[in-house]
Amino acid sequence: MNAQTDNLLQENRKFKPSAEFSARAVADSTRYERAANDRLGYWADTARKRLTWDTDFTQVLDWSEAPVAKWFADGKVNAAYNALDRHVENGLGDRVAIHFEGEPGDTRTYTYSQLTTAVKQAANAFESLGVAKGDRVAVYLPMIPEAVITMLACARIGAIHSVVFGGFSADALRSRIDDAQAKLVVTADGTWRRGKPSALKPAVDEALAKEGHSVQNVLVVKRNGQDVAWNDSLDKWWAETIDTASAEHTAVGHEAEHPLFVLYTSGTTGKPKGIIHTTGGYLVQAAATHRDTFDLHPESDVFWCTADIGWVTGHSYVTYAPLINGATQVMYEGTPDSPHQGRWWEIIEKYGVTILYTAPTAIRTFMKWGRSIPDSFDLSSLRVLGSVGESINPEAWMWYRDVIGTNNGKNGERKDHPTPIVDTWWQTETGAHMIAPLPGVTATKPGSAQTPVPGITVDVVDEMGVSVGNGEGGFLVIRDPWPGMLRGIWGDMDRYKDTYWSRFEGMYFAGDGAKRDEDGDIWLLGRVDDVMNVSGHRLSTTEIESSLVAHPYVAEAAVVGAKDETTGEAVVAFVILQITPPEGEDVVATLRAHVGKDIGPIAKPRHILVVPELPKTRSGKIMRRLLKDVAEGREVGDATTLADNTVMTQIAESMRG
Ligand code: PRX
Repeated sequence: MNAQTDNLLQENRKFKPSAEFSARAVADSTRYERAANDRLGYWADTARKRLTWDTDFTQVLDWSEAPVAKWFADGKVNAAYNALDRHVENGLGDRVAIHFEGEPGDTRTYTYSQLTTAVKQAANAFESLGVAKGDRVAVYLPMIPEAVITMLACARIGAIHSVVFGGFSADALRSRIDDAQAKLVVTADGTWRRGKPSALKPAVDEALAKEGHSVQNVLVVKRNGQDVAWNDSLDKWWAETIDTASAEHTAVGHEAEHPLFVLYTSGTTGKPKGIIHTTGGYLVQAAATHRDTFDLHPESDVFWCTADIGWVTGHSYVTYAPLINGATQVMYEGTPDSPHQGRWWEIIEKYGVTILYTAPTAIRTFMKWGRSIPDSFDLSSLRVLGSVGESINPEAWMWYRDVIGTNNGKNGERKDHPTPIVDTWWQTETGAHMIAPLPGVTATKPGSAQTPVPGITVDVVDEMGVSVGNGEGGFLVIRDPWPGMLRGIWGDMDRYKDTYWSRFEGMYFAGDGAKRDEDGDIWLLGRVDDVMNVSGHRLSTTEIESSLVAHPYVAEAAVVGAKDETTGEAVVAFVILQITPPEGEDVVATLRAHVGKDIGPIAKPRHILVVPELPKTRSGKIMRRLLKDVAEGREVGDATTLADNTVMTQIAESMRG
């Protein structure tokens, strides 16, 4: 194992919540006890508190077909009704649901009532395009309100959305469309990126250029007004289709186990996995954790999760949980540095954001840009700060607290009580937070996600599956089924069982290394499999290797994630060429572009090194560990198991050359 058990993570600083914060907090410490004493009872109560059910459930959990769980199975519930209609029925129709801020500075505000109307219209329009319950809808949109409207309209009619991040290529989009057999694609002409229009529709056109796809219609939102190619047999403008549809639509309850969405994520093989989430359990855990982890007071808070809807964080904490909880949220289309490096802080000041949820890579970027930028904005409204996607190193945690969490105005005023910081560990597969402090209860600790959320049983085990003691490291597992857990991999249940349930008997294997410190708090140590984490985005080494070897120049390839100060990890590839490239050809640039086209710009290797050989064991396995040493500029570790131990010398020489 390479769970870095030798990593001596030690942290003596602890920050107790202020008495004021705890007094107002939605969750107190009794929640842990209550959940531990009667886990299923706790989830049943939570399910009834957080959601309005069309049909109440009689059974909480059915684990008889483990590892496929059924939660609240005979209950019926409609996600869109819970996110929208019921708030309007409860007199909250005028509350702002979404403050949208476009990158060029255009804004739109949707109240709950307006968002409900928009979703009803979209639901009617989708139905008139032949989309029915159980059909799949691919969503390839930027961070604009139509993304949320599309997802909720699908959920309303029981169609299953499959959101594909806009940074993925045409090829990646097509393979996801094919795998899910999507009937409808919803996209936009483009978006704005660093002040310039950036296109999206051409990727859809390219994806669908080859015959044999399942798509019957493509709906196109006009976002940046650029010219687009038009295919009369497929394409329809959003405005002409949705805005003219009827605003009357009655939501019916869907079975709790009806699939809500499929979201593709990288695994340890070349093929991305379509993670399946169902309706009831997923919504319960997303809503409950959103409320507890962020201490949400929906009547007064302004929540901002900076994640894109192309990732699970955007699903759970942009589209579903905030709206189910009746909160007001901010949605921002662009990058943090457009048109200036203070854009996020300006947005926080403008909308009075109270809860910010973002990734360590962003925090480290802001650290690099310097504190004078956030210091010149009024961030006094902030009261909870969240982190997600990778471990937050203690330096970044302290900066987040000291610079962002104590800012009490532009004049350098500081808060008496810095805002609590909640580091949240979870995965696409878990659906919602699994390990996170409760901000009004936990004495927080820089760098550690600390404790499982109430109702969740997480453990750290050794190679044999035995719990490790405090101060020891091992593998992170989840012992009991949880409401938001994935229900399988689209079209491949064997892979589901194999990937998550075969490593340790009866336990879910998360793929992360972890350690318990002397207080029993959990520290995440990174992936122990072939998955990389670049800027909080999951990438598979094998997927990038497959892409590289598919290029005619390449005979063999090995990809590793090398430590990077800002992005966490950076993709580094080692390739052996099988031909001599044409004179003047920039092989590295060609291969980077090839990976960009195959998978998407986010997967482009930072460095590609052409080497004469790759280090392999006698059984032919590439020793990535040694390549990681090279990529990180370290002395190469134990190479005695190499079939040919001159290889590493050759690699080192080719690097110098
Ligand atoms: O390695 C862990 C890391 O991100 C992986 C899950 O990636 P994904 O499915 O894309 O979901 C990301 C957002 C939930 C995990 O296996 N990870 C996520 N959050 C943390 C983390 N590692 C350490 N600390 C975290 N808070």
